[in-house]
Amino acid sequence: MKERMEELTEQLNAWNRAYYEEDRPVVSDAEYDRAMRELEDLEEHHPQWKRPDSPTLRVGGKAVEGFAPVTHRRPLLSLANTFSAAELADFERRLRKDGVEEPVFVVEWKIDGLTVALEYENGVFVRGATRGDGVVGEDITANLRTVKTIPLTIDFPGSLVVRGEAYLPKRDFAKLNEEREEAGESLFANPRNAAAGSLRQLDPKIAAKRPLAVFAYDIVDGSGELPRSQEETLTFLKGLGFHVNGDRDVLTGLDDEESVAAFLEKRAADRRGLSYDTDGLVFKLNDFRYRDLIGATAKAPRYSIAYKFPPEEKETTLTAIDITLGRTGVLTPLGQLRPVTLAGSVISKVSLHNSDYVAEKDLRVGDRVVIHKAGDVIPEVVRSLPEKRRSDSVPFVFPSVCPVCGEKAVRLEGEAALRCVNESCPGRLRESVKHFVSKNAMDIEGLGPAITETLLAKGLIVDVGDLYDLKKEDLVVLDKMGEKSAENLLRSLEKSKSAGLARLLFGLGVRHVGAVTAAHIAAHFQSMDALLDCVDHEEPAVLAEVEDIGGVIADSVFRFFRLESNRALIAKLKERGVAMTAEAPKEGKLNGETFLFTGTLPTLRRHEAETMVKDAGGRILSGVSKNLNHLVAGEKAGSKLEKATKLGIHVMTEAEFLDYIR
Ligand code: IVH
Repeated sequence: MKERMEELTEQLNAWNRAYYEEDRPVVSDAEYDRAMRELEDLEEHHPQWKRPDSPTLRVGGKAVEGFAPVTHRRPLLSLANTFSAAELADFERRLRKDGVEEPVFVVEWKIDGLTVALEYENGVFVRGATRGDGVVGEDITANLRTVKTIPLTIDFPGSLVVRGEAYLPKRDFAKLNEEREEAGESLFANPRNAAAGSLRQLDPKIAAKRPLAVFAYDIVDGSGELPRSQEETLTFLKGLGFHVNGDRDVLTGLDDEESVAAFLEKRAADRRGLSYDTDGLVFKLNDFRYRDLIGATAKAPRYSIAYKFPPEEKETTLTAIDITLGRTGVLTPLGQLRPVTLAGSVISKVSLHNSDYVAEKDLRVGDRVVIHKAGDVIPEVVRSLPEKRRSDSVPFVFPSVCPVCGEKAVRLEGEAALRCVNESCPGRLRESVKHFVSKNAMDIEGLGPAITETLLAKGLIVDVGDLYDLKKEDLVVLDKMGEKSAENLLRSLEKSKSAGLARLLFGLGVRHVGAVTAAHIAAHFQSMDALLDCVDHEEPAVLAEVEDIGGVIADSVFRFFRLESNRALIAKLKERGVAMTAEAPKEGKLNGETFLFTGTLPTLRRHEAETMVKDAGGRILSGVSKNLNHLVAGEKAGSKLEKATKLGIHVMTEAEFLDYIR
C-alpha cells in the first residue's frame, strides 16, 4: 500500500509538472482524476504514509522562470471534484448539516482554460497573474493587457481582485493549429494548452495575436461594499465591463438525484454547441452569508464544487503505425485505427506526434487503445490496454532511416522529432513541391499529388525550379494528361511567376515561416535581393525587429537563406522569370509613401485602412523604421508610437488619415 502511494505521488507530480509547467499534458483528465482519487483514498486510510510532497496538498504547479513571481493577496483556491448526481446530493447534504437552509445554487460552465487573477487599483488594471500553486503565481500583466475582454479601466474606487478563466475559443484553436502545422511547428494538444502557452509567452506580441478571452466569475478581494451573492457578483462584474458568461442556471434540491442526473445529461449535450471548451460545471452556493460559516479547507472551499463530465472515450484497435514524411523532413508516426465514432465523427487515424510519445505510451501495433478528442477537436490516443495484448506483441521500433530514401534519420538538438536530412530525398521533394504549388503559396492549379509524383518519378523535375522548364510535349505524354490540361497547367505556371515575394517566401517552405510571417518579411524587405543582402551582412537579431518575427523565426530564416543549395534554387527560379519582389504598387496619389497602422482605430478595421493605402498606390510597412513616412495611431497605441515619436516620424489620427488620402 505504501509503495503504491509513493508510486502515485511520483506519477501525479510528474503529470502536474508536464501539465502546469510545460503546458504539455501526458494523460487524459480521466486518468489523472482516477489516480488522484486513488491516492486521496489511500491517504485517508493511511495518513502516516502521506508524503510531504503529495500532490493532494498542492493546488497546481509552481511558477516558471522568466516571469516575476506574484504572491496573491488571498490564496486562489481550487475546487473539489464530483463525478455523479449522487456525489452532488452528498454535497448538498453536507451543506444542510453545516446549517445551510434551503441552499440555492448558481451553476456555471467550468471553462477549460487558465485561471487568472486581475488586480485593479483605483479603477486601473495594474496587475494580472496566473494561479501558480495558488499562493504564488506568475506576473503576466503584459500579456493579459492584450486580451480584449479584460477592461483596462473600471468604474470602481479602491482595490479589487477579480478571478476569471482565460480561454481560446474552439474555432480559433483549430485555426491556430492549422497555421502552426503549415509553418512546420508543433501543435497544441487542446485549447487550454494553447491559451496557457499564449499567456506564458515571454513576448506579449505573440499573446496579442491570439484571440484570447477571459470570463470573469469571482471577486477574490476588494475594498468597500461588495456583492453578497454569486448572482450579484456576476451582475456587478458585468456592470464594470467584464466579460461574464450569461449561460448559467439556478438550481435547488440537489437531493433529487433523478432530476439532477437529467440536468447533467442535458448540459453534457449542450456543451457540444458552445464556442469554448468546458470540462464540467461549477455548483456555487449563491448566498455569501453562508460562505464564512462553512469555510474552506486548505485546498478548496466547501461551499462550491465542480462536476466533471465523463470523458468521451472509445476503445479501438491500433492496426498500424505508419511513418509519414513532412516537407521539412520530419518523420511523424501516424496511427491507423479500426474506425470508430467519437463525439460525432468517424476516427480512423491519429497522429502519434514523435518517437518519444510512442515509447512513453508503449503503443504497439495490434494494441487495443483508448482514444478521445483533445479540446473536442483533435483525436488522440489516451493509452493502450496492455492487459488485452497478445502474448507475442513486441514494442514498436521506431525506424532509424527515412521511409522514402532510406538514408539515416537524425535527431536535431533539442527536438523530439527524427528528421531525414537528405536534401535530395524524393519524399521530401514531393512534399516540398506539394507545398510550393499549394493555394496559399504559388497557387499553381492542375498540379495535384498524382501528377507531381509522376513528374518526379520520370525525372522531369528534380526541384521546383524545373517546373518552369516543363514543355507541352513533356506533359501530353503523361497518364491522364490531355492537351487541354497540359495547356492549363502551363498557363497557371506562367501566371504563378508573378505571385510575388510573399507567396514565394511561403512556398519555399522555410521552417516556422507561415503565410502571414512570409507576408511580413516581404513587406519589410520588398525584394529577395534586399533579404539576401541582409542575410549576408547582418545577424539574425536584425530580422527579429520586423513585426511578428521572434528569434526562432529569424534564426530559421537566416539558416535557410545562407544555405548554398537554397541560394542556387532561388537563382534558378529567378532565371526562369519568377518575380522576386513584393507586389508592384498601384498607380495613385500615395505612390512612394509608406504607412503603418497601430492601436485600435475608431471606425476602420486595420485591413480596410491598409487596403485604402494600397489602392491609392501607397505601401504598408511592417515596423517603424526611418523608411516609414506616416504612422496612423489609434487607441492603445504602444511601443510603435513611442519609437515613431523618437524617430520624428509623422504621426496622425484616423480622421487626419482619412483627410490626407481624400
Ligand atoms: S469557481 C474558489 N467558476 O476550475 C474556487 N472556477 O477545478 C473558485 N474554473 O481552478 C473557482 N470555470 O480556474 C469557478 N465558472 C467557474 C470556473 C472555474 C473554470 C476553473 C478554476 C479552478 C478550476 C477548479
